[in-house]
Amino acid sequence: GFEVEINDGRVFRVAADQSVAQCLEAHGVFIPVSCEQGICGTCVTRVRAGIPDHRDQFLTDEERSSAALFTPCCSRSLTPRLVLDL
Ligand code: FES
Repeated sequence: GFEVEINDGRVFRVAADQSVAQCLEAHGVFIPVSCEQGICGTCVTRVRAGIPDHRDQFLTDEERSSAALFTPCCSRSLTPRLVLDL
């Protein structure tokens, strides 16, 4: 598992069976989602710290390697904590 931190300092643990978007929603933080499969890009969020484990098919190779963007509907984290610009 891993944690996500948002701009107000709150930190949430993402369970293995939920997406980051679902985890945030459960805590009242709503991100626009559409496909929930990493295809449409609706959910793209900026990353402030940490390295995403990209599971989408939307971001370009350049965007992936910069680690600055993330699709919370399906992607995970390679670092114990991902800090999102939310
Ligand atoms: Fe479509 Fe995340 S909701 S890429």
